[in-house]
Amino acid sequence: MQNLLIVDDNDEIRRQLKWGLSKSNYELIFARDGVEGLNMFKRHSPPVVTLDLGLPPNENGIEEGLRCLGEMLRMDPTAKIIVITGNEEKDAALQAVRLGAYDYYKKPVNLDELKVMIDRAMYLQNIESENQELRRQSVNETGIVGECPAMQAVFTQIDRVAASDVPVLVCGESGTGKELVARAIHKKSLRAESDMIPINCGAIPENLLESELFGYEKGAFTGANKMLKGKVEYADKGTLFLDEIGEMPMTLQVKLLRFLQEMMVTRVGGRKEIPVDVRIITATNIDIQKAMEDGSFREDLFYRIGVMTINLPPLRERGGDIELLANYFLKSVSVGQRSTNKGFSQEALDCIKGYDWPGNIRELENRVKRAVIMATGPEIMPEDLGMKGDEAMRQKLQMDDISLKEARLLLERDMVERALDKFSGNIVKAAASIGVSRPTFYDLMKKHGLKNA
Ligand SMILES: Nc1ncnc2c1ncn2[C@@H]1O[C@H](COP(=O)(O)OP(=O)(O)OP(=O)(O)O)[C@@H](O)[C@H]1O
Ligand SMILES: [Mg+2]
Repeated sequence: MQNLLIVDDNDEIRRQLKWGLSKSNYELIFARDGVEGLNMFKRHSPPVVTLDLGLPPNENGIEEGLRCLGEMLRMDPTAKIIVITGNEEKDAALQAVRLGAYDYYKKPVNLDELKVMIDRAMYLQNIESENQELRRQSVNETGIVGECPAMQAVFTQIDRVAASDVPVLVCGESGTGKELVARAIHKKSLRAESDMIPINCGAIPENLLESELFGYEKGAFTGANKMLKGKVEYADKGTLFLDEIGEMPMTLQVKLLRFLQEMMVTRVGGRKEIPVDVRIITATNIDIQKAMEDGSFREDLFYRIGVMTINLPPLRERGGDIELLANYFLKSVSVGQRSTNKGFSQEALDCIKGYDWPGNIRELENRVKRAVIMATGPEIMPEDLGMKGDEAMRQKLQMDDISLKEARLLLERDMVERALDKFSGNIVKAAASIGVSRPTFYDLMKKHGLKNA
């Protein structure tokens, strides 16, 4: 049953409504004045409210009624509020509607008429909240949380490229969600029924990468006792996700390019050309432009894979999403570990919002997970997140899933920060103290967004 809140100071009207609506399908909640009305609203979140505008202390005025209306809409902008006015208050009614009331009803109350109005408001509210739920789910079908404009642009790009077969290059710092975006594109594409096969070009030794990608024939090399298909063949009809493409050795870049031009696989030690039908998504956290300039990445390959580029912003540039994501992770781990529903303390939130997040979303996820385990008090504190005091660095470096790259970045930033502090911003001394040149020190400050105190 749905809640219907009735706010009216007139005993007679409340009695009349109670009697008249008792057979309706609503759970009736009554309040005699604005304060009680707001309390009930907060407690029961009714989708529909009837609100008498003339409430005490001044039953002949409309101030208290309008105040309640405003408060309720602030708490729940989707609530449908029907204001009930005296006969002479047409202007007041219109004013209320302008402020966001759903409709108005003039006294004396005709129960049948009012009931129709309430039913319609309930109906509308249901449809609207169903729609909202659908929209919420469709954001979540990709698993990517984000409301900031930069991420909205990313969602638009995902939708735009998903339907076609164009290669997509996803760029972004470590932990910004590149793989998540690749999966989202695949899931939304016409290839969703087939698999997305990921391969990390940076993690596999050069001599193994080729056979990993293209497979090998029996007897291709010592130990090749039987034929093995490569990832590319497994990705047939689906998507091939080449992660950390920027780390791919030159010799393989050539082979990959040849494959992309012909869409034919030749297994190592074989001659047969096997046609495959794959969509290519690549990702990198290095600056490809720069890699091309210094000759470690082939331009012709870039023009093949980078037809469409999606740039993922670092977490520190996502504004309110930081808090949104923190709460999202808190909720998802809390459910998994059945821990009490702890929230973040104000101090913890301040730390989260003020932090630089060099490890981006992955770091945030890890810290929140850890905090849920660590927190002993009723709220999560900065210490639980490992974000305070001298302990912070040690804890940071001990986190479970931290990569060497992230650890290096963290340590680097920490050392530069400490040197700046220690020598009160004297760059020459600070640079000397950690054994780097002054220009290098400036580069490091810039890289980590540190300012001279
Ligand atoms: N916008 C987001 N909403 C929810 N979870 C996210 C979001 N972005 C990233 N994540 C989560 O953060 C973690 C890191 O994401 P992912 O592995 O996609 O990043 P990446 O850019 O590929 O990182 P790396 O460069 O280290 O490979 C994953 O657990 C992922 O689910
Ligand atoms: Mg990745």
